[in-house]
Amino acid sequence: MERYEHTPAELVARAREAAAKAHAPYSGFSVGCAIEAEDGSIAIGSNMENACYRLGTCAEISALTSAQQEFGLDKIRRIAVAGGHIGAGGALTGEQTVLPCGGCRQAIAEARDLSGFDIEIIAASGDGGAISTHRISALLPASFGADNLDDAQD
Ligand code: THU
Repeated sequence: MERYEHTPAELVARAREAAAKAHAPYSGFSVGCAIEAEDGSIAIGSNMENACYRLGTCAEISALTSAQQEFGLDKIRRIAVAGGHIGAGGALTGEQTVLPCGGCRQAIAEARDLSGFDIEIIAASGDGGAISTHRISALLPASFGADNLDDAQD
């Protein structure tokens, strides 16, 4: 049984705080992500949209690049995500849990492949009131990975 430094509620709180710094003027949907390392270190990120819509970055990718610098992708153990609308008081609102999109699942699977640890995903609603917990192996079964490239041309 894995032991964690932080409670799920603490990680969700960090993800919701991170969402407050999202740059999401086009969708109006702010997402925050908090990534916990094996030693309890936390890296955060939020989505960053662009006037050229397709260039937007998801909160999970933003947090993964921060984790890469802070402690390394192979140290990642848990990832909390929350998304919704920033309310008048500045806090994230919304009732539906937010799960990583397909592209972000692929990026999380890359981190999983580095360590062999089946990373836990904590999907939270914007208001933090609803939470569901998953493993990356369940969110992205039968994934494409580095091993497939063994069959690439030399
Ligand atoms: N978004 C994320 O940041 N993470 C996800 O897993 C799903 C979607 C962002 C992208 C875009 O800025 C906004 O949410 C609406 O799709």
